[in-house]
Amino acid sequence: MCGGAGFIGSTFVRLRLRGSDDEVVVLDKLTYAGRRENLHDVADDPRFSFVHGAIEDADAVAAAIDGADAVVNFAAETHVDRSIAEPDAFVVTNGQGTYTLLEAARERGLRYLQVSTDEVYGSIEEGSFTERSPLAPSSPYSATKTGADLLVSSYFHTYGLETLICRGSNNYGPYQYPEKLIPLMVLNALHGDPLPVYGDGMNVRNWLYVEDFGRGIAHVLEHGAAGEVYNVGGPGECPNIEVVRRILELTGRDESLIEYVVDRPGHDRRYSLGSEKVRALGWEAEVHFAAGLERTVAWYRDNPWWWEPIRSGAFREYYERQYGRALGD
Ligand code: NAD
Ligand code: DAU
Repeated sequence: MCGGAGFIGSTFVRLRLRGSDDEVVVLDKLTYAGRRENLHDVADDPRFSFVHGAIEDADAVAAAIDGADAVVNFAAETHVDRSIAEPDAFVVTNGQGTYTLLEAARERGLRYLQVSTDEVYGSIEEGSFTERSPLAPSSPYSATKTGADLLVSSYFHTYGLETLICRGSNNYGPYQYPEKLIPLMVLNALHGDPLPVYGDGMNVRNWLYVEDFGRGIAHVLEHGAAGEVYNVGGPGECPNIEVVRRILELTGRDESLIEYVVDRPGHDRRYSLGSEKVRALGWEAEVHFAAGLERTVAWYRDNPWWWEPIRSGAFREYYERQYGRALGD
């Protein structure tokens, strides 16, 4: 499991160790977003091991992949705003890294699942994207994820590698790095800091609780047909401003904390995934947005040990660069 020390990867590792007899090897570069803390509760499991290395490093991949039956690739640079400011790491990890993993899987004939995103389809005003919709990415992040998807598909068509692609919608839940909308707003609200809403706040995202995505990936890994793409969308869509208002309610704060800030360049207006294909395989989202958000806010409130080192560390510099103001203490 590449990128298993990140938000979704660590959730998947946990689900997998609890729900199967699998042995799990995580390969992770431990960037700012990858943290051993995310795996604190599985670190002593005898079926778990960790290799520190990059997916674009063929030697590190060879060290981790030995004896594996399947590769699940979560590893990526994932934050759209960072891809706008500094795209290079996105090309290396999402492009070169995926290629290096595919080569290693091809040499060994392994099943390969690529964790991808609804952002490869671009923005949609009405209706929902199916797996056959054209790919029209907008940001360097989504463009490099799209390139990776195309490369994955080419390894199925050209070499017969057993590939699968899962395109998820916006995930939320525990252990998400606080650069992303929901954890950023939760932590700012808990601290009484302003909540920076881009543009008019009416951009719409399709929210998926992280354990539901993890179950979807596991389901596709076991039951998906080689060469296929599966959309895995959340049960509820919501404009950003509505998400922010719900967070203010759950944290007992009022709307005076909302601050409209300059919009993200090339900001996609709305994402929406049709997930009929993965439903036909037997997966359903279980967590509704209201319940999942309540659970998520409670987790951040109860786990300052997890976010205090982030909020007091290098994240402060990122925040200042991104929002042009210092984060409160
Ligand atoms: P994340 O940013 O929380 O974690 C990424 C992980 O990858 C970290 O552990 C990091 O250390 C690791 N990593 C980064 N570069 C690496 C490299 N070169 N080699 C090895 N490891 C490296 O990301 P996330 O939100 O958990 O997303 C996981 C995957 O799911 C990504 O592929 C992302 O594109 C996709 N996805 C995310 C969402 C979402 O809402 N977060 C939705 C759909 C799909
Ligand atoms: O859709 C799936 C994608 O979701 C994943 O592939 C990406 O890895 C993940 O980062 C996420 O991308 P988004 O750009 O949709 O997520 P983000 O949390 O950055 O922003 C969600 C929305 O909130 C978006 O419309 C921008 C807005 N936003 C975000 C931040 C960080 C704000 O209004 N203010 C903010 O400070």
